[in-house]
Amino acid sequence: MSKTDQVAALTAQHVMNTYGRLPLAIVKGEGTRVWDADGNEYLDFVTGIAVNSLGHRHPRVVEAIKKAADTLLHCSNLYHIEPQARLAKALCELSGLGRAFFCNSGAEANEAAIKLARRFAKLHVDPERYEIITALGSFHGRTLATVTATGQPKYQKGFEPLPAGFVYVPLNDVAALEEAVTPRTCAIMLEPIQGEGGVHPCTAEYVQAARRLCDEHGLLLIFDEVQTGLGRTGKLFGFQHYDVQPDIITLAKALGGGVPIGAMLATERVAQGFEPGSHASTFGGNPLATGVALEVLRVLVEERLPERAEHMGRLLVSRLEALALKYPEALGGTRGRGLMIGVELKLDGTELLREAMNRGLLINVVGTNVMRLLPPLTVTEQEIDRAVRILDESLLHLVRRAASGN
Ligand SMILES: Cc1ncc(COP(=O)(O)O)c(C=O)c1O
Repeated sequence: MSKTDQVAALTAQHVMNTYGRLPLAIVKGEGTRVWDADGNEYLDFVTGIAVNSLGHRHPRVVEAIKKAADTLLHCSNLYHIEPQARLAKALCELSGLGRAFFCNSGAEANEAAIKLARRFAKLHVDPERYEIITALGSFHGRTLATVTATGQPKYQKGFEPLPAGFVYVPLNDVAALEEAVTPRTCAIMLEPIQGEGGVHPCTAEYVQAARRLCDEHGLLLIFDEVQTGLGRTGKLFGFQHYDVQPDIITLAKALGGGVPIGAMLATERVAQGFEPGSHASTFGGNPLATGVALEVLRVLVEERLPERAEHMGRLLVSRLEALALKYPEALGGTRGRGLMIGVELKLDGTELLREAMNRGLLINVVGTNVMRLLPPLTVTEQEIDRAVRILDESLLHLVRRAASGN
């Protein structure tokens, strides 16, 4: 039995069966590369689903983790926590927002945003307002409130009754958004680019209409930047592509460079919706997570990684478009921004994923049948070339097999 098979057997026996897992146990990473338990090497274009944006084992992330381990891993929010305060200051300065709340995941950050939007409306706008408009095809998390905010019934099935107060609209349909606003609405919540839904960007017209509606009706504009945030799309925050300023944004994934952390940022005015006791998290903003996140943020800014994502993204998209011309029967259009890229597939995405994996490239399939590529923002041109070569070989194999009828 291979080491990977041993891990798979142990998982099958003891871990709750909530994930459809691939037959791969990753045990080590370095930059864009990872290794499995049997010593095979892969290029990682999944990065823990947009988490390892600085690549694996970035020396400054490793150093920040060691520093926290040598000084203080955890202390309660009953006390002041210096790296937490510094991280809040840095995030607010970079985003233009006023205050931060820290938690441990994307769902928790969105849960905090939902609670703040409701409480702000109740206390400061109109006590009758509680509804939040979200987009069909969105993904906001797996807690009861965030799975309800998620505009995809497949994630909600079996968990009814769902919390009240969520309304769904088709993405990029301004008229439908206008129509959905009622006297009960308190906020509109959007991903700048839908990730799990299949890499669907919001149009500028749509985001600007959302901002306008929020201003006209006294609603809050919330951006879920859990996947798009922190350089992934070619700007530090996805909303910066749209020339609008949100009232609330949420972050997680890449913020901790692999250490779990989530954050919800709000304007100074909206942050007044919370007071001591309104919301909390035991681990939220602890010295380990915030110390590491502060270093992640510094690396992103100092190494100009959003710009790099923009540049490398263009390169990768041009290579993918060339592949689509070569395999029109297999690949459709390419979407996304920076290094958050989706390609429509006309063949079985799972088969392509497995072929690529067997040749040493990790990719991901989302939405209806969309290949999603999320390489680290530190990815090199040589690594992009190698990844595209592996995709080319995988597609050639699948297209030939389909033509031969096997
Ligand atoms: C846009 C978005 N929001 C929220 C989440 C949930 O984050 P988490 O899994 O950290 O709870 C995800 C996860 O994929 C996401 O992509």
